[in-house]
Amino acid sequence: MIEPRPQLGSPKMGQLLSPREAMLRALVIARKGAGFVSPNPMVGCVIVDREHRFLVEGWHTKVGSNHAEIEALERLMALKGSREALEGCHVYVTLEPCAHEGRTPSCAKTLAPLQPASVTFPFHDPNPLVAGKGAEILRTAGIRAVPLTDAHVWPALPHESIDPLVKQELIDWAEDVAEIFLWNARQRELPFVTVKVASTLDGKVALRSGESQWITGDLAREKGHRLRLEHDAILVGRRTVETDNPSLNVRLKNITGVENSVVIIDPRAKLLPTLKDRRLSQVRPTTKVFVCVQSGCFDVDVVSRAHDEGFQVFDVGGSEPGIIDLREALIKIRTLGLMGLYVEGGAGTVGPFLDGELAQRLHVFMSTGVLGGREATGWSDLCGVGTLAQMWKLKRQHVNVLDGDIHITGRLQV
Ligand SMILES: NC(=O)c1ccc[n+]([C@@H]2O[C@H](COP(=O)([O-])OP(=O)(O)OC[C@H]3O[C@@H](n4cnc5c(N)ncnc54)[C@H](OP(=O)(O)O)[C@@H]3O)[C@@H](O)[C@H]2O)c1
Repeated sequence: MIEPRPQLGSPKMGQLLSPREAMLRALVIARKGAGFVSPNPMVGCVIVDREHRFLVEGWHTKVGSNHAEIEALERLMALKGSREALEGCHVYVTLEPCAHEGRTPSCAKTLAPLQPASVTFPFHDPNPLVAGKGAEILRTAGIRAVPLTDAHVWPALPHESIDPLVKQELIDWAEDVAEIFLWNARQRELPFVTVKVASTLDGKVALRSGESQWITGDLAREKGHRLRLEHDAILVGRRTVETDNPSLNVRLKNITGVENSVVIIDPRAKLLPTLKDRRLSQVRPTTKVFVCVQSGCFDVDVVSRAHDEGFQVFDVGGSEPGIIDLREALIKIRTLGLMGLYVEGGAGTVGPFLDGELAQRLHVFMSTGVLGGREATGWSDLCGVGTLAQMWKLKRQHVNVLDGDIHITGRLQV
């Protein structure tokens, strides 16, 4: 798999970029919108000149503000003094340019009269308002608007080797970058669920005492915070809040102003009476804290007080007391406008997501330390399969080394 090449830093003005490098750069910068663009996708755009030399780049920075193509176009205007400088250039964008007017004007209609030579994107936007229509607007204006899924040739440089595997890797990576958006555009019932665990080499996430901080190093934890940013809410089980008293916020250099939501599974409302004193309630408005309880299993006065304190408590059914219907919980979470859910444990919470096949992506951050023993908790202790043939296997996986920790991620479902 193509790794997210951090070494592909901002290209210098005039630097020759192959089409592959231009698309890779667009994919790298797309992620800069994390935390600010939901429910829109993270999108990046790179513009190169007729000879494929780098001119400008842009990304979708905030919901309601410029799309990536327009952001790049404005930078081109600032550089060259006019939008007309786009004529004959090549545009690389990580999603089909939009056809419709929403909070912002149509990107396809803005680009069409400016006559770039080509607009390359990985695949059509599944949104029915756009699907194929953005490309059609551009083609009608005589522009080569080529999704990588269809293209048999790269639109420009003859010396670029045409390797279908490279194209497929770019398509896969673009799907990963936009996965929460794509999932929600294709089905409207359940949010996209990512499960993340930080474990030792032998798969342990906590000692018997509950001690678990910290298993991995700074770089792995920083990556974990970046992933928090890409999701609308973090979900944890009651015991993680009781044991760790976490803030569950985004703590990254140069990123401020993100107030992510938290969902806690607390079937019998045991945590609820003290929730306002926990760190996670102190670092965000209580209206951003959602608590899932089980119908018939909680004290109504406790829930009513929590509502008064601003917490958003919702109840779901379950097969027996203490076993909630997780699918029903996810349906409610989706209706609350939370489209991407980042499940951070512990094992009692992760297990039902895996057993219920309700998670789409898994991230494991694994240190090279070993805790051993039967009593330390393993992240998959409370879930599992019956036969080897049923083994859960990651698809489209990436493996990275982060300062001595190993980061493995992939899709549980594609
Ligand atoms: N290394 C890591 O990545 C990591 C991450 C998070 C936590 N941890 C550690 O893990 C430990 C806590 O994990 P844990 O497994 O004991 O607890 P947990 O998963 O945090 O919480 C489990 C509790 O949450 C409720 N719950 C969660 N999912 C449920 C479901 N589908 N149906 C019904 N109830 C559900 C239940 O509450 P009731 O008991 O009220 O029924 C359950 O007992 C701590 O030591 C923490 O430090 C490690």
